Amino acid sequence: VDLTPHNTFGLPAVARAMVHIDSDAAIPRLLDHPLYGPMPKWVLGGGSNVIFTGDPAELVLKVAIKGRRLLPTQADAWIVEVGAGESWHDLVRWTIANGRPGLENLALIPGTVGAAPVQNIGAYGVSLQERFDALDGIDLTTGQPFTLTGDQCRFGYRDSIFKHSLAGRCVITRVRLRLPRPWRPVLDYPDLQRRQRESGSGRPDPQQVFDWVCALRRAKLPDPATVGNAGSFFKNPVVTADRFAQLLRRHPAAVGYRQPDGRVKLAAGWLIETCGWRGRTMGRVGVYAHQALVLVNQGGATGIEVLALARAIQESVKGRFGITLEIEPTVV
Ligand code: EPU
Repeated sequence: VDLTPHNTFGLPAVARAMVHIDSDAAIPRLLDHPLYGPMPKWVLGGGSNVIFTGDPAELVLKVAIKGRRLLPTQADAWIVEVGAGESWHDLVRWTIANGRPGLENLALIPGTVGAAPVQNIGAYGVSLQERFDALDGIDLTTGQPFTLTGDQCRFGYRDSIFKHSLAGRCVITRVRLRLPRPWRPVLDYPDLQRRQRESGSGRPDPQQVFDWVCALRRAKLPDPATVGNAGSFFKNPVVTADRFAQLLRRHPAAVGYRQPDGRVKLAAGWLIETCGWRGRTMGRVGVYAHQALVLVNQGGATGIEVLALARAIQESVKGRFGITLEIEPTVV
């Protein structure tokens, strides 16, 4: 099976086989299958956060479990239950249309609902963990269903238990989101504050915030439908306050955001741009001209070429700032 259309970077890879999982019951059936049951397995969502550098040896499971349900409203939250195979952005739109706001800052993030907890998606001041209730999954070794709460998912910045002890061991089948009531807009992100000032009106409604976030993303991030990419290619590195002060002395324009623990999250895009990479290309891969944190496929690139550019960027940032950039998407 050709995986090129199944990853947003458009990287070539071939799977030995791919099985579509469209219901919970399909998983025990698969585990009992004489050929597929014993094969090692690898779960694919929307393919928007994966870099193929070769052909996966595993059986690829494409999660296609659908369904969106409004569960009974609680005093302090709306609860929405969604199948892992639903599109994340369609879900955001649907919740707002159904009077359940709270996900608008996470509009236009590519990928599926089931992939959202894996990397704890986040944008414009909101991360999934702040809108999370619980998720259901099925263990791929035992076939047993399980439920995890937010604490049990061990969410961190672009991180969760699904990148560590549960990596490759389960399928997330359904996610329940917890949208706090009453709704209040989250406008801490500087770009959103600017939009609000420009709009000249008072408190925005959820649709207004949704529209601003979509406009911001469209202006800065390439649409994977036209330019292959996997969103931010590196995590924003977190450094000590001392380290940031040191950096500011030499580079007064350095961009950083203070974290609750006192450390500072640096804008990796600024580090990369300052090293001169913005808009540069290396063969069939490039650094996006409007956002240096995003690598793009100029047409026909391979995963090996993407990693070569990533390494070159990591080396120059390390050489100039002494800071190690960590790749964000999953490398297969
Ligand atoms: N910047 C530059 N040059 C660049 C890019 C950024 O100087 O080429 C500086 C600017 O000062 C800018 C600041 O970095 O104001 C922050 O840039 P931006 O608002 O674009 O956000 P980011 O930190 O680069 C993160 C997430 C994005 C998310 C945005 C908005 C990570 C790895 N990335 O990017 O998430 O959409 O914030 O919240 O945390 C993703 O994970 O795939 C992703 C797109």
